[in-house]
Amino acid sequence: MFTTALLRRDQTPALPHDLFEGIQVLKKELNAVILAHYYQDPDIQDVADCIGDSLELSRKAASTSADAIVFAGVHFMAETAKILNPDKLVLLPDLNAGCSLADSCPPEAFAAFKAAHPGHIVVSYINCSAAIKAMSDIICTSSNAVKIVRQIPEDQPVIFAPDRNLGRYVMEQTGREMVLWEGSCMVHENFSEKKIVQLKIEHPEAVAIAHPECEPPVLRHASYIGSTSALLKYVQASPSKAFIVATEPGIIHQMQKLAPGKHFIPAPPVSNCACNECPHMRLNTLEKLYLAMKNRSPEITIPEETRLAALRPMQRMLEMSMA
Ligand code: 13P
Ligand code: SF4
Repeated sequence: MFTTALLRRDQTPALPHDLFEGIQVLKKELNAVILAHYYQDPDIQDVADCIGDSLELSRKAASTSADAIVFAGVHFMAETAKILNPDKLVLLPDLNAGCSLADSCPPEAFAAFKAAHPGHIVVSYINCSAAIKAMSDIICTSSNAVKIVRQIPEDQPVIFAPDRNLGRYVMEQTGREMVLWEGSCMVHENFSEKKIVQLKIEHPEAVAIAHPECEPPVLRHASYIGSTSALLKYVQASPSKAFIVATEPGIIHQMQKLAPGKHFIPAPPVSNCACNECPHMRLNTLEKLYLAMKNRSPEITIPEETRLAALRPMQRMLEMSMA
């Protein structure tokens, strides 16, 4: 199961012979919890205490009694854990694990955008920096965005940031007009509609499913649209035996575990590259996870003023998603 867990000591002297065992020892020493997103490598998913989508991981981060949170995900996710847990040590195995969507919304430009739309409240997708969260009124994730926007009074103008595709999808589902920030995810905007149609012809029994970060032409071919957790639940409950999966293919590891015997076909990107894999998520490795725990670094820190401003819309999300 842990394909990279057994390493040759002479090649990597800083690492233990059994990496999995080493991580378990450090976990006890640190009283740590390891949270992993579905887009992480299978080894990392298998070593985690909790695997989930952004909402589930935020909830877990909000409720954990551990002293340290090791976040196997990307920077905004670890930052979210720190926003919720200022007194805990929050570690991210590779500080360069960013997010193209979060990067598509720089704080200065967003402040000007907000100023150009007075009277609007800001709903921000959790895939954004702490600085953007601090400028927002409510945070949402892909699993609660529709539910949250439905709770906003009809006559209240809304800015939705930073993902234009999720924003457009929420507008369709709720019938609400919103002002969209033009951000997108480099992985989800890259799926090829043409190749998905071809796959549907080759596999007529397969059901196409997609994450709402995908572009509208891809979403139009999907029989079901949902967050990573929702897609996972769907493939387990569905009577279908085959699925074309238009989201990062890391999720297929859990799909295979939870729906054994079913066939999962990753939706292909436009060019012949591995661009359907998130290069940021994939920067994390089991080795870096071990070293982060051993060195108690890289640690996530946030200026207290920003953290407090970002906490308020996060708490609103956690309350509104329970409503
Ligand atoms: P989820 O909310 O489904 O976890 O999505 C997070 C993400 O980064 C998708 O690209
Ligand atoms: Fe960001 Fe896209 Fe990677 Fe998700 S898949 S972390 S939105 S770049």
